[in-house]
Amino acid sequence: MALLGNCGAILGAIMRAALVLHGPNLNLLGTREPGVYGRVSLAEVDRLVTAHGRRRGVRVECRQSNVEGELINWLQGAAREKFDGVVFNPGAFTHYSIALRDAVAAITLPVVEVHLSNIHGREEFRRHSVIAAVARGQIAGFGPRGYLLALDALLTLGDGPAPARVNSRRRRGV
Ligand code: DQA
Repeated sequence: MALLGNCGAILGAIMRAALVLHGPNLNLLGTREPGVYGRVSLAEVDRLVTAHGRRRGVRVECRQSNVEGELINWLQGAAREKFDGVVFNPGAFTHYSIALRDAVAAITLPVVEVHLSNIHGREEFRRHSVIAAVARGQIAGFGPRGYLLALDALLTLGDGPAPARVNSRRRRGV
């Protein structure tokens, strides 16, 4: 128990604040296609992930925008605003926004991509994420719980070196 407590303290010291970003149409959670996204509202998702962070000693701030540029500005400003990592559900931008992909690639903070639904089991156009290759990882298909898992994933990253990205490995011909 003591060991676990110590680990929590160490991890908490590394990840003090996390920014949770929700992309377009996620403001409609709870009423939007409940068969796909469930009946939990965005306010409730934010409450759950904020409480989860508090239990782990992490300050969580949640923001939602339907505007691509606003999400880019938040990503670019996250380190300046003293966040240590980002949990990001880019919504439909996931599948085609090179600008958001470039923003994730440009920043040094770790970004974990999250989706409520299992995008890999849905329509063909949803199965590809342009964000995934530049995010530290992706969690999809666990509903609101995915945000909590993504926060835990950020906590386990610590300050170790970032793993090689697929594209940079390709550039090196590996
Ligand atoms: C989503 C999946 C996207 O394909 C979709 O456009 C969304 C939500 C998800 O959380 O499952 O808006 O990101």
